[in-house]
Amino acid sequence: MNSGPDAGSESPSTAEAAPLNVLITGASSGIGEAVADRFRASGARVFLTGRRSEAPATLRDGERYLPGDLGDEGFVERLVAEATAALGPLDTVVACHGLQADGAITEMDLARASQVLDANVLSVFAVVKHAVPAMRETGGQIVLVSSRLGIVGIPDQVMYTAAKGGLIMLGKGAAIELAPQNIRVNVAAPGLTETPVIEAGFQRKPDPEAYRAQRAATIPMRRLARPEEVAEAIFFLGSPASSYITGAVLPIDGGYTAA
Ligand SMILES: NC(=O)c1ccc[n+]([C@@H]2O[C@H](COP(=O)([O-])OP(=O)(O)OC[C@H]3O[C@@H](n4cnc5c(N)ncnc54)[C@H](OP(=O)(O)O)[C@@H]3O)[C@@H](O)[C@H]2O)c1
Repeated sequence: MNSGPDAGSESPSTAEAAPLNVLITGASSGIGEAVADRFRASGARVFLTGRRSEAPATLRDGERYLPGDLGDEGFVERLVAEATAALGPLDTVVACHGLQADGAITEMDLARASQVLDANVLSVFAVVKHAVPAMRETGGQIVLVSSRLGIVGIPDQVMYTAAKGGLIMLGKGAAIELAPQNIRVNVAAPGLTETPVIEAGFQRKPDPEAYRAQRAATIPMRRLARPEEVAEAIFFLGSPASSYITGAVLPIDGGYTAA
């Protein structure tokens, strides 16, 4: 029997058996909507937010969707207050909102660059800042949704890559700072995923199908991710199944960043 220093007797969080209370941002669309579906399927109680006023069609009876701009700290405070009033202390927070932005360096004005940083980093910081005091005293888990482009650079998306790279470091620093509170923080780094914003980008190209095939050809697995595949990995990081993982960056990218 292993009785050495690695033979721990601690068991994962007792929250494992109870339904998780989960706050999900960016839940009005794409990956965030799939993340809500995945937590819901596990029996979790979800509280959702997005920017558009209409709630996602997938919202179930009894669930709450609170729309607002996470760039406004007052809204973030209200969101966390309403989520805890509805659910009680939070077990899991998934920060899935973000802004994808193209533009060559010399053509992106500073106002747009600042907006990209705000949407992908500062607003996530605000969510973490206000959610931490609202989490269960025994701890919990936070998942930040970065991108493969937080790990590797590409042309014409420099501010997006800078922001998503910064988000990875936000996650690592927060993981260390919050570990004594038993709050785990991990970062999901999806690759190109079939969501409405990506599909809309394809549709703006002269030959959308040729462009899709061209993008898929740059991925070792030769296809885009489905939102459910990304959501499954986020669910793992956001549940007690990953109880000894913190400060990690998990690529969900068909091998893109392995190259
Ligand atoms: N799809 C991909 O290929 C891909 C790849 C790597 C990483 N990601 C990341 O994964 C996340 C989700 O991407 P997605 O493709 O599902 O994008 P999406 O369909 O455009 O969804 C983005 C979500 O973020 C919300 N949002 C954006 N800015 C906000 C703000 N200031 N305040 C509050 N909510 C805000 C949007 O709300 P409204 O729509 O209601 O305005 C929406 O719910 C993003 O962080 C993205 O950067 C996506």
